[in-house]
Amino acid sequence: MGVRMAGLGHYAPAKVLTNDDLEKILDTSDEWITTRTGMKRRHIAAPDEATSDLAIAAAKMALQNASLKPKDVDCYVVATVTPDFAFPATGCIVASKLGVAGKPAFDIEIACSGFIYGLTVVSSLIRSGVYKRVMLIGAETLSKLVNYQDRSTAILFGDGAGAAILEESSEDSFLAADLGSDGTTPETLYLPAGGSRTPLTPEILAAHGDKIHMAGREVFKFAVNRMVESSLTALSRANLKPEDLSYLIPHQANRRIIDAAAQRLSMPPEKVIVNIQEYGNTSAASIPLALSEASRDRKLKDGDLIVFTGFGAGLSWGAVAWRWAA
Ligand code: ACO
Repeated sequence: MGVRMAGLGHYAPAKVLTNDDLEKILDTSDEWITTRTGMKRRHIAAPDEATSDLAIAAAKMALQNASLKPKDVDCYVVATVTPDFAFPATGCIVASKLGVAGKPAFDIEIACSGFIYGLTVVSSLIRSGVYKRVMLIGAETLSKLVNYQDRSTAILFGDGAGAAILEESSEDSFLAADLGSDGTTPETLYLPAGGSRTPLTPEILAAHGDKIHMAGREVFKFAVNRMVESSLTALSRANLKPEDLSYLIPHQANRRIIDAAAQRLSMPPEKVIVNIQEYGNTSAASIPLALSEASRDRKLKDGDLIVFTGFGAGLSWGAVAWRWAA
């Protein structure tokens, strides 16, 4: 049994935060942000907008594009590090608000690698015959975890969601995957407090312990190396080479990371899907958001070979080699 994508969707909140806006609240500049990251704008959730709201909007677009109803989907999976609550899983809320309470639903929490891990897990559920059709959503409201006084992280993150409906198929789109993790130094990129290691106190809140902390330069080096190695491993498991690829769809964390990885994979710019200028880093949402936009723009043709690759907190990384089926 194989798997294919039956429909894609995406959503980003209406409010936009530009580099000019950031210049007004931080010691930074449009020039610095553009040359160091490639970012121009990010979308920011409203105070009353939670991750499940973004996920549902993306899921509805995917359902419409696939001409399906929520009841036609057997299971709902949300990849996120910004769940509505620490528990229950955001997937449960999404399924119920779509009117299908009772369906299985769960979350995958592996930061920006969430869609890559999710694609591997969901493809396995379908290829092994457990479910016929699964909704995989990457959705984040990272703006709620950003310290807008820290210029090294505040410029990077935005909110958004992307959804893919995966279904069984006689032809198999899933060709191979490579996943990895290294939790030796979680503090390289983490939310220090609010978990069982360091519960929140007034002092910790005052020190922004509930916001993203990151050693940017270390993440940068790791990101390029891991995305390249993981992509090559997935490709070789599928008996493919980078030159066989139609598209590289990488996690959108920094334009320079994407360009460096693409260059080492000898991928010309026209084969690399990039929308970082519009959304910034939307963690687990970035790859499905870029994929949904590429599909909407009719860039993808039947039989196109794609590598999805990402990295993030964990540290974690991965790549999936995929044959697009129209
Ligand atoms: N505006 C102006 N200057 C700044 C800003 C800013 N927004 N941020 C940092 N600087 C300054 C620094 O203070 C430093 O100044 P100094 O030389 O006087 O000390 C200088 O710019 C250079 O700082 P670096 O950190 O070396 O800058 P770098 O070129 O590495 O860019 C960045 C920083 C953009 C964070 C980069 O390291 C990066 O993108 N890293 C990867 C981050 C990433 O991908 N994170 C997401 C992972 S996914 C997930 O799981 C959420």
